[in-house]
Amino acid sequence: MCGIVGYIGSNNAVPILIEGLRRLEYRGYDSAGIAFYEDGNMVLKKTVGKLSNLESILREREYESHLGIGHTRWATHGRPTEVNSHPHCDCYGKLMVVHNGIIENYSLLKKVLISEGHIFRSQTDTEVIAHLIERYLNNGNLSEAVRRALCEVEGTYAIAVISSSNPDTIVAARKGSPLIIGRGDKEYIVASDVPAILNITKDAIFVNDNELVVIREDGTQITDLKSGGSREEKIYQIPWDPELAEKGGYAHFMLKEILEQPQAVRNTFSGRINLNKDKIHWEDLDFTVEELRKISRIYIVSCGTSWHASLVGKSMIEAFAKVPVEVDLASEFRYRMPLIDDNTLTIGITQSGETADTLGAIRKAKEEGSKILIICNVVGSTATREADGVIYTHAGPEIGVASTKAFTSQLVALYLFAGYLGRAKELISYSAFSRIMTELASIPKKIESILEKEEEIKRLADLFWEKRDYFFLGRGIVYPIALEGALKLKEISYLHAEGYAGGEMKHGPIALVDKDMVVVALVPHNSVYEKMLGNIEEVKARDANVIAIADEECEEIIEKVDHVFCVPKTSDFLSPILFAIPLQLFAYHIARNRGCDIDQPRNLAKSVTVE
Ligand code: F6R
Repeated sequence: MCGIVGYIGSNNAVPILIEGLRRLEYRGYDSAGIAFYEDGNMVLKKTVGKLSNLESILREREYESHLGIGHTRWATHGRPTEVNSHPHCDCYGKLMVVHNGIIENYSLLKKVLISEGHIFRSQTDTEVIAHLIERYLNNGNLSEAVRRALCEVEGTYAIAVISSSNPDTIVAARKGSPLIIGRGDKEYIVASDVPAILNITKDAIFVNDNELVVIREDGTQITDLKSGGSREEKIYQIPWDPELAEKGGYAHFMLKEILEQPQAVRNTFSGRINLNKDKIHWEDLDFTVEELRKISRIYIVSCGTSWHASLVGKSMIEAFAKVPVEVDLASEFRYRMPLIDDNTLTIGITQSGETADTLGAIRKAKEEGSKILIICNVVGSTATREADGVIYTHAGPEIGVASTKAFTSQLVALYLFAGYLGRAKELISYSAFSRIMTELASIPKKIESILEKEEEIKRLADLFWEKRDYFFLGRGIVYPIALEGALKLKEISYLHAEGYAGGEMKHGPIALVDKDMVVVALVPHNSVYEKMLGNIEEVKARDANVIAIADEECEEIIEKVDHVFCVPKTSDFLSPILFAIPLQLFAYHIARNRGCDIDQPRNLAKSVTVE
């Protein structure tokens, strides 16, 4: 939801800002812009559409600057036009602001500022910030002017500000939207997310809510927005290599990330649990076995793909640890009355660690007295800093807007946690736990064998890509994978796709089935296998085109459906991981055939930092 970046240092800021924006473009791509200070002048360049449009404009000549800010936009207030693009400026074009978030009281502030003589150019909420700072900048102290301005705004923001009155300073601040500072050698880069800083440094400082940062070439100072009190700066080491955030020759990040899954899931479980007959120990889990034993109720809160992982997690935890689990959409959990006591654990699952709804939900659970565990992919992200314990998925940066490797890594993290909790509660024997771990260790190879059959999936996509309606059916442990398969397809190819529990079809949706409908049926050989075959019969009798994803190529299935794709056999609780992979590839190849913008689908952004 918009990406911001700022650079100060001895290198040329312009290419660094563009590279930073390129790595943040997944956050929004309605427009892009930069402002920088060159030879005593403030230069502003911005345009609608993707970053490549801005790059074309910048090719007019070589620019040289040591201080600048940039923005890539996901439009909220005001259409995606050039005038609404960031950076926004004061009346004289001397002060520039980039902003991620929403200023809720902007209409009121705008009226007051106009009555004071300020001239507005855009329809955005952001522009009020620039004029408010201008109002307070008369004594030339930029950080104080920003502080006073922000005391008047309501809403959420991560901002970066530069002004020709202070050509050696970037002032940044945050409330509700992510903001990090990369510390290089006498250079700093401020950004909305980690990938944007990696070309400069792996040393990151995470800015907290209600903090203001003054950044100069020789250092930074973080202070509380209201009190002005300063705090010590903790430096986090980001464990990602810059190349991980590059496409590396692949046509799309999504494809690269699908293919990275064997390694991503291996990284999620490797070296974590110390298996010893008398004691098991999870090396990097912040909860003791005694604390885990006390848990009597679990809520899992999340959004989108992470919510689908949560649904699978519920089945795993209830089976292994016999603790009742409720799964809530984070946006709903925030506004209901959960039943929380001292023995409640709330698990937030979030790839980015910055999703506004998920942060809202975990804050609510914490307020009510719950302990918080976060399953997250981004080291140091907001959710991880607010939790009592964190399980990092270690899947590496996920740049494609459609989540793939983060999802399968979340499933692995949940499986590990469910098994560990069951063992902590002494509900799982040592040998059963060893079997769980042994089966898990075989998963990366099994994923590899599915990926080797990508051509088979591509052929299916070539057959069906012109169809407009798709149902994904699953029962039991793979029902959430049906939901996920439908989400993957709709978000990147804009087709009508719905996921259903096989048994629900007859309660309404089957009315939509005819010869133009494609049904993707997930049919693992488990306790509901026969039931699923029955559901296939029902849609086949209404002329649907049926693709079965199965884990055994048996006659029974072959003769009932039009196409079968086989994944390797594994235990019931790990089967969701293997069944998800062909659906990711299917969505990818359909979207590719349809010529869609796979990594940056319309209307979406990777990190949803607004409610
Ligand atoms: C879909 C997708 C989204 C995210 C959702 C939550 O492919 O990526 O549905 O899963 O926006 O994001 P995180 O996991 O970052 O909280």
